[in-house]
Amino acid sequence: MEIVSTVATMQQRVKEAKGKGQQIAFVPTMGYLHDGHLSLLKEGRKRGDLLVLSIFVNPTQFGRGEDFEDYPRDLQRDSELAEKIGVDIIFAPLINEMYPRGYATYVDVEGITEVLCGATRPGHFRGVTTVVNKLFNIVQPHVALFGNKDFQQLTVIHRMVLDLNMPVEVVGMPIFREDDGLAMSSRNVYLSGSQRQQALVLSQSLEVARRMASVGDLDSHEIIETLKEKISTQSEARIDYIKICHQLTLEEQRKVDADSVLLLAVFIGKTRLIDNGFLLY
Ligand code: PAF
Repeated sequence: MEIVSTVATMQQRVKEAKGKGQQIAFVPTMGYLHDGHLSLLKEGRKRGDLLVLSIFVNPTQFGRGEDFEDYPRDLQRDSELAEKIGVDIIFAPLINEMYPRGYATYVDVEGITEVLCGATRPGHFRGVTTVVNKLFNIVQPHVALFGNKDFQQLTVIHRMVLDLNMPVEVVGMPIFREDDGLAMSSRNVYLSGSQRQQALVLSQSLEVARRMASVGDLDSHEIIETLKEKISTQSEARIDYIKICHQLTLEEQRKVDADSVLLLAVFIGKTRLIDNGFLLY
């Protein structure tokens, strides 16, 4: 396994691989890998001859006062995990390599980036689509794998790839959960013991909503009010949003149907956690 830090070397490796007719599978991450990331890499290993993992904590997707500085980083640990899965190349550039002096170009997907996480984190998705676009240009993958936990991010990336005719297959992979249901996230390390316990309210809310939907309680307002009540029993929980949206348009739905996704963002203490899932399936 090779660790590459410059765009020029990464593009050279891509050129060599494509010269040999190899398929390139790509998993973009911000590092501090957990089992969810590893599941993407395992799937990528099956789908590509060359498997590339990028590790880059992208400053343009963090707002002022967010956790860019504190975001957990451990390249040594990540490299060991990646090597075990059979990653061929880790692309781990420094900030100046991605955003050199004079950098001025951004990619903006309209509409669907302004709701949900986009409403609370203005500019976040502009940072995501810009860096993913750059990474796609550098790595030129045939297939790129993302986790469904960032449901809106995945929807936005699908939109960008479609709108800009990018020749890459984008694959969403199931959410990976701890045994007690907590969705895996690099940010879970911020939680204290008691916060970790309170964080279970997200996945439990999903279960409550599913149960309601399964017995025919399909009114979104009622479901959301029930969840608000449940979440408010946790002393450190503060709801950012709870919405039931159409899976493709992200438009809010009054009534649950087979396209409905419940999306939640809840602060547990200072840590903002997200979760989502289909309600009828
Ligand atoms: O999901 C993430 O880890 C990041 O948003 C991504 C896609 C790697 C872009 O920085």
